Amino acid sequence: MEGESGVAHVTINGGKCQGHGRCALIAPNLFDLDDAGQVLVLRDSVPGADLLDVEEAILSCPEQAIALARLTVSGAGPTPCFT
Ligand code: F3S
Repeated sequence: MEGESGVAHVTINGGKCQGHGRCALIAPNLFDLDDAGQVLVLRDSVPGADLLDVEEAILSCPEQAIALARLTVSGAGPTPCFT
């Protein structure tokens, strides 16, 4: 939103991840796969410049295993924007 500042926080529902790896291809600076082929979040706080990549990764995950919450400066708490 215009004038709103804050950071975004990535969370993974590990039980849903099936190792498709699309997230790591789309946003390799934020996601990787572990030795078992499960997603690893490299940085759970997402700078604004990477938000579009994270949103694309979320939409591309066939298991809907990735979530993003925006944390506002107001201290009102996280506001889920993708589940
Ligand atoms: Fe897992 Fe989805 Fe990424 S299934 S490896 S979180 S594309």
